Amino acid sequence: MTDTSTATQPAAADRGVPLCELRDIKVAFGGLHAVDGVTIDMYAGEVVALVGGNGAGKSTLMHTLSGAHPADSGEIRINGDLVTIHNPRDAREYGVEVIYQKLALADNMDAAANVFLGRELRSRTGSLDDEAMDSATQRVMQRLNPRFKNLKTAVRSLSGGQRQSVAIARAVHFNARILIMDEPTAALGPAETAQVRELITQLKAEGIGIFLISHDIHDVFDLADRITVMLQGKLVGTVNKHDVTKDDVLAMIIAGKQPGDNGSE
Ligand SMILES: Nc1ncnc2c1ncn2[C@@H]1O[C@H](COP(=O)(O)OP(=O)(O)OP(=O)(O)O)[C@@H](O)[C@H]1O
Ligand SMILES: [Mg+2]
Repeated sequence: MTDTSTATQPAAADRGVPLCELRDIKVAFGGLHAVDGVTIDMYAGEVVALVGGNGAGKSTLMHTLSGAHPADSGEIRINGDLVTIHNPRDAREYGVEVIYQKLALADNMDAAANVFLGRELRSRTGSLDDEAMDSATQRVMQRLNPRFKNLKTAVRSLSGGQRQSVAIARAVHFNARILIMDEPTAALGPAETAQVRELITQLKAEGIGIFLISHDIHDVFDLADRITVMLQGKLVGTVNKHDVTKDDVLAMIIAGKQPGDNGSE
């Protein structure tokens, strides 16, 4: 298994301004505090895994960044600048893109048509510029996944890993700097999971930062640099992967225990 994180990562204090910071975010649904004062950050080229049990508030927290649901209070900073995100369009303006588990692809269309779906390139006469879209898709795929050869195939008949490549190519082509990935390997077999791992390595090398929501502790340890744990809407803590064991993280997820806390007072 490849470890995509950098073992010799500098301490956060040496790394300057985070690419993205969510500070003291709160979201309530009626009396339910789905996200209750959570702070999380991420540096360029870093994968931060966001973990926690069902209903911990992971998706709701990420919705405040993707523009799917506004925060009631708190701050979002991108490259240190305070930003206001009301909707997905605002998020895209700041380079935030979401790769959903159920990839929103048009199954009967090929990779290029999917990359440019809703943002098609047109020639001066207003007709679709297929040639330009094909060659742009080829370029971005060459970077991300050089083995991807099925540019003319309807994405319906692609493997799960290849479909991920198409969804990520779409985000990257439109200058995503911050990717939110929701369970990207949940429905994939081992070979496809390996392909997604390679994609993530490539995205990191390009300086893209990733928030990775995952229930798979093995994926989390393979892919993440740091791990942020939530429990019932609250932040349990953020740890550097190299400082903790899987059991430490599971204890954080289940019992809200800090690593090194053996439970005796
Ligand atoms: N639109 C909504 N309206 C009312 N309650 C909501 C809404 N969205 C989420 N919730 C509630 O907020 C809490 C946090 O949900 P959220 O989906 O963020 O959790 P999660 O950590 O993503 O869980 P999972 O791992 O199951 O996806 C849950 O109690 C959920 O029922
Ligand atoms: Mg969720």
